Amino acid sequence: MCGITGYIGYRDAYPIIMNGLKRLEYRGYDSSGVMLFDGKNINLSKTKGKVSSLEEKVSQEISTEGSIGVGHTRWATHGIPNDVNSHPHMSQSGNLVIVHNGIIENYEALKQELVSRGYVFHSDTDTEVLINLIEEIKTQEGVKLGQAVQIALNQVIGAYAIAVFDRAKPDEMVVAKLGSPIAIGVGDNFEEFFVASDASPFIEYTKNAIYLEDEELAIIKKGRKVRVRKIKDDSAIDANIQELQMNLEQIEKGGYEHFMLKEIHEQPRAIIDTLRGRLLVNEGIIKLSGLENNMKRFLNAERIIIIACGTSWHAGLVAEYIFEEFVRIPVEVEYASEFRYRNPVITEKDVVIAISQSGETADTLAAIKLARSKGAFVFGLCNVVGSSIARENDSGAYTHAGPEIGVASTKAFTTQITVLLLMALRLARAKGTMSSADYRMHLQELELIPQKVEELLKIDDHIKEIAKEYLLSTNFLYLGRGYNFPVALEGALKLKEISYIHAEGYPAAEMKHGPIALIDDRMPVVVIATSKGHYEKVVSNIQEIKSRKAKIIAVVTKGDTSVRAIADHIIEIPEVEEAFSPLLTTIPLQLLSYHIAVMRNCNVDQPRNLAKSVTVE
Ligand code: AGP
Repeated sequence: MCGITGYIGYRDAYPIIMNGLKRLEYRGYDSSGVMLFDGKNINLSKTKGKVSSLEEKVSQEISTEGSIGVGHTRWATHGIPNDVNSHPHMSQSGNLVIVHNGIIENYEALKQELVSRGYVFHSDTDTEVLINLIEEIKTQEGVKLGQAVQIALNQVIGAYAIAVFDRAKPDEMVVAKLGSPIAIGVGDNFEEFFVASDASPFIEYTKNAIYLEDEELAIIKKGRKVRVRKIKDDSAIDANIQELQMNLEQIEKGGYEHFMLKEIHEQPRAIIDTLRGRLLVNEGIIKLSGLENNMKRFLNAERIIIIACGTSWHAGLVAEYIFEEFVRIPVEVEYASEFRYRNPVITEKDVVIAISQSGETADTLAAIKLARSKGAFVFGLCNVVGSSIARENDSGAYTHAGPEIGVASTKAFTTQITVLLLMALRLARAKGTMSSADYRMHLQELELIPQKVEELLKIDDHIKEIAKEYLLSTNFLYLGRGYNFPVALEGALKLKEISYIHAEGYPAAEMKHGPIALIDDRMPVVVIATSKGHYEKVVSNIQEIKSRKAKIIAVVTKGDTSVRAIADHIIEIPEVEEAFSPLLTTIPLQLLSYHIAVMRNCNVDQPRNLAKSVTVE
C-alpha cells in the first residue's frame, strides 16, 4: 500500500517528513516524493526508487525550508512506477498539492470531464485527476478547500486516504478517508499536527492520535482543534483523540505479532480491492481490461498453459479446475522451472497465463520468454505493478493485495484465485458455456466472499488450540479432492516453509496408492471435506485413515455431522460454491501453519533458507 506522511506546526517539516517516509518503507513501495512550503514557494521533489534516492534528489533540487509539507511512498496501482507518476501531485494552477493512498475507480470519466474543461494531465494516475477535480470545484463554486474536497469526494467511487494542501491557506491541511487508513498525530496545545497512514512516523513526537473513520474528512489548522466532518453531508462530528499504547514495531505490523498474521487478516480487504471496479454485480458484468482487449485470443485458444512456482503454482492448479469446468478449454499447469528446460510443444494457438506475486521470479520470467519466443500469447497475473514479469507479458491483470511482506504467501494466493475466477466467469459468459442465470448467481456469490473470509478469521483461537496439540509432530499429511486438492498442497507448503515440519499434500483418493502406509497415531492428517466436494468419497477416505489410528483435522462446511463423528478436530467454513471454496478452505490452513510455527519459535516472517522473491535459478 502507499504511505502518506505530513506535518504542520512550528518545527522544520523536512526531517519529520523524511523520517516518516523511512518509517513507512516497510509497507512496500516503488517511488516516493515530498512537498514543502517555505512561506512563498511550493517546493516539490519526487522520484522512482527508494527514499534514499529521493533524499539525494531533494538535496540537489529544492529548498528544504518550511514548517508544513507532505510526503508519500507509492505502491503503484494506476500508471507504472516512474518520476511523473510519483506523488505528491500538483493541480494545474500549481496552488494545490495532494498525496493519496487508494484507488479511484471512476477516474477516467472524471478525467474526460476535466480535459473537456481545459485541464492537461502529465501523469497516468488517478490521483492527479482528484487534485484537479478539487481545484475545479474550488474555482467554480468559490468554496474553501475543505468544502471543495468534500464535494469532490462525493463524486468519487473508490478508496482513498488523502492529504491536501492549498498555497492560499498555508497553515491548514485537509485529510479524508475511505477504505485506506489515515491517522492524525495531535501535538501539545494543537500547536503541531502529524498526518500519516499509520502512527509509525509520529509516535516519537506524540502518542495522541485521531484515526479517521471511513467517509470522514478533517480540517487541520495550526493552533486549533481538529474539525472532523462527514463527507456525505458535511455534518460536524467530534474528533476522538486516543492515546496510543503501541510501540513502533507493533504499529508497522498493525498490532499483529507478525506480518504474516497481519496479511492473513488483510485478506478480506485484499479481495475487496482486487474485485473493486471489476465485479459489477448490479450491472451483471465483469470488467477486466487486459482480458477484454484479448478476448478472441482466449476464446480461440486450443489450450491454456499456466506457468508459476510455489504458491502461485497452487493457484494455477486451482485455476485448472475452474477454467476446465467453467470455460471448457483444456488447461495444463506447469512448474516454470521445468517448463523452461523441457523443450515444450508450444503453438500460436496456446494462451499462457503466468502467475507471480513478486513479478520477479527468475524461472517464471524465463518460461514466459520461452513461450513468447514460440508464438504463444502470455497473460500475466502479478501483484507488483511494473515488475519484470508484468512488463514482459503481452497483457495481464494485477492482484490488488498490497505489498506482501511475509515470505509465506497468503493474501497473494487468495487474490490470485479471485482474479482467475473473474477471468473464468467472464470467458464462460463470452463462450456461452455458462447460462446468464448461473453467471449472475456466481457474481453474487463472489461478492459475498470477503465477508465470509472475515467471518472465518474469527476461528483463530480455535486453530491455535489445535496447533498446541501438534507442534511437536514431525510429519503431516494434507488431503483434498477436486478444487481442494491444490489447497491441500498449499497447506502443506505453508507448514513446511515456516515451521520446518515435513508435510505432504495428496489427492485424498491417492492414499491407497502408497501414502496410507505412512499412517499411524503419530501422523496428523488434515483433510478438506467440504459438503459439495465429492463429500461421500472424502468421508470414506477419512474412515480408512481413522481405522489406522491417525489424528484427523477436518475442514468441513458449517453444520457437518458425518465428519464430526469421526474426526479429532473440526474446523467449519461457511457454506460456499465449491469453485469458490479454496478462498475459504485455505484460511484455516494458513492459520494452523502460522500458530504451529510461532509455538516452535520459528522466524515466521523470514523463514530459514527462503527469500520473498526467488530472482535466481
Ligand atoms: C510461498 O509461500 C513461497 N513464498 C514461494 O513458494 C512463492 O510462492 C514462490 O517463490 C513464487 O513466488 P512468486 O509468486 O513471487 O513468483
